[in-house]
Amino acid sequence: MGSSRSDSQSSSLISSLFSIVGLLAGAAVVADGSREPEVPCYFIFGDSLFDPGNNNNLNTTMKANYPPYGVDFPSGVATGRYSNGRTTADIIGELLGFESFIPPFASAPNNSEILVGVNYASGSAGLLLETGKFMGENIDLSQQLKNHEQTVSRIGKILGSKKAADDHLAQCLYICNMGNNDYIANYLQPQVSNFSKRYNPDQFAAFLVEQYSHELVRMHVMGARKVGVTGVNLIGCTPAAIAMYGDKDLLCVDSMNKLVVPFNERLKAIIDKLNVRFTDAKFVYLDSVTAGGIAGQDVFVSAFPIKSTACCKVSLATGMCIPNVEPCKTRRAHAFWDAFHPSEAASRLIAPFYLRALKKIL
Ligand SMILES: *[C@@H]1O[C@H](CO)[C@@H](O)[C@H](O)[C@H]1NC(C)=O
Ligand SMILES: *[C@@H]1O[C@H](CO)[C@@H](O)[C@H](O)[C@H]1NC(C)=O
Ligand SMILES: *[C@@H]1O[C@H](CO)[C@@H](O)[C@H](O)[C@H]1NC(C)=O
Repeated sequence: MGSSRSDSQSSSLISSLFSIVGLLAGAAVVADGSREPEVPCYFIFGDSLFDPGNNNNLNTTMKANYPPYGVDFPSGVATGRYSNGRTTADIIGELLGFESFIPPFASAPNNSEILVGVNYASGSAGLLLETGKFMGENIDLSQQLKNHEQTVSRIGKILGSKKAADDHLAQCLYICNMGNNDYIANYLQPQVSNFSKRYNPDQFAAFLVEQYSHELVRMHVMGARKVGVTGVNLIGCTPAAIAMYGDKDLLCVDSMNKLVVPFNERLKAIIDKLNVRFTDAKFVYLDSVTAGGIAGQDVFVSAFPIKSTACCKVSLATGMCIPNVEPCKTRRAHAFWDAFHPSEAASRLIAPFYLRALKKIL
């Protein structure tokens, strides 16, 4: 998406939108009967895009456990998800056939739950320890992996041997969504971070991806064999970016989108390298830029009479929904729920797109 999109690009985006809607409808039919999920277990790492409530009891301003968050969630209550309903990670789980949402690590899941999966994702977190910390506590990827280490050790005890745990863990799907906040809550915050003075964009991308590679190797050491890794999103196309830096006539802040290009290019390259290095594992890049184009405002605007602004009334200071204010009525018609996060409607377009790539490694 973007302000300079051509008609041919737009029609191909629209046709991919419709094929994805078709795929989603097909999957819903299959999911209707009771069946085993396509993988026995599913572990989730990431930031607010995947967080199901791990920040609720942290000392941070970055949490989403108040109305109107959760207004369309099955329980109808705010769980801490940064959405009106399900996250993309939740919908991937549903499409794979899981009957329940993968529980947050912070909810202290029991033995039968951890055999099915744990979600470690944390709003405002990044690859770097410093990322997002100006808003308070969060769980960076390194700590998320430490938390997973506890899960792995418990699974070893439950199943009775390391071999049984390894066999179990090798069948699970792992997905990881990281890097967005290392830009929007670090590099692009010069008042709290000096990274932009010390590194040019390509150097910063190299620094982040080197860290990411190290963490993905740790994940492999802990038994992960099927790993999906998202790129950084089109961070210049959020309502927050447009409000802060944009020209009202443009749909995206191109300079912000260009900033993350080297990250995604380098991430693809290290995923290729990991696949060569670990012949017993499969890693796949999940193209969040194309996913954003599919779910994003241009496609919504072109395909339906749909609005590109946030659905809830957002605080200008934080981009988060103002507590207890009635959100927009036509939530299916908004790509963005608040100024940063996709609506469930957008996630319903992103999830099957990611799942098509993930199926190659299952
Ligand atoms: C929460 O964090 C703030 C700012 O970082 C700090 O001043 C405050 O003491 C912390 N509160 C608790 C209960 O730890
Ligand atoms: C584990 O937690 C789930 C969800 O809360 C519950 O349904 C299940 O009965 C619990 N299992 C055990 C063994 O405690
Ligand atoms: C950048 O900030 C870090 C800590 O926030 C500090 O240790 C370092 O000296 C700073 N570097 C420069 C070049 O300002």
